[in-house]
Amino acid sequence: MLSVNVQPHAELEGIYWARLEDGSRHLATLNLDPGRSVYGERLVRIRKKEYRVWDPYRSKLAAAVLKGTSEVSISPGIRVLYLGSASGTTVSHVSDIVGENGAVFCVEFASRAMRELIINLCGGRRNIYPILDDARFPERYGQIVRGADSIYCDIAQPDQARILADNADLYLKGDSRLMLSIKSRSIDVTLPPSEVFEKEIRTLGLRSFQIKSVVRLEPFDRDHVMVSMIYKGK
Ligand SMILES: C[S@@+](CC[C@H](N)C(=O)[O-])C[C@H]1O[C@@H](n2cnc3c(N)ncnc32)[C@H](O)[C@@H]1O
Repeated sequence: MLSVNVQPHAELEGIYWARLEDGSRHLATLNLDPGRSVYGERLVRIRKKEYRVWDPYRSKLAAAVLKGTSEVSISPGIRVLYLGSASGTTVSHVSDIVGENGAVFCVEFASRAMRELIINLCGGRRNIYPILDDARFPERYGQIVRGADSIYCDIAQPDQARILADNADLYLKGDSRLMLSIKSRSIDVTLPPSEVFEKEIRTLGLRSFQIKSVVRLEPFDRDHVMVSMIYKGK
């Protein structure tokens, strides 16, 4: 049996590689709430630190990293506006990455998902700010958010490019980096996914975003891409 070890990712600060006893290699993040597993993920303890194995089948951000994107806009110490937080699976890893000096503003309009997020995450993580609201109306959470360094958007809505742009106009400074997950079936089930992605990416280009990379998330998620962009300002 091999020994378990953890190494920092060579390019992405706050992200790690964990090698397990069977030789398999997995993404991981440093657990900000030691002793607690959020969605059944494995915890790995090494030299008094605890890491959480990050499942790419449960988190599109992990899938994007494994599919080779080097354009990850989440890093230690930043404030992230997270649109579509659901019950907090990916949020928990974003919270690990930004760490105690960062913040994750979580916008979610489904009250049940938000309740789970609060139960799962808010007890042991002080960098999470739950916002039960609709991302289509970004001005409504200005009292809590005030400003952000990056946006991560995973709302699976047909008009998500516009929603993202409206949030960016209100909360980001020019040259901020952001990420958007696009699910072709949420936008148009009649068109082939590649056409849907092209159309969405053209729309983003018209709304002050400079596209840095687009990665397809198969085999972890079907008909999804992760787009990394720079916001060029209003
Ligand atoms: C695909 S799930 C997000 C999964 C989550 N990002 C993760 O990786 O753990 C999409 C979520 O976006 C939420 N959502 C969709 N439209 C929204 C809107 N306009 N405002 C806020 N939340 C929204 C849905 O309720 C759902 O929980």
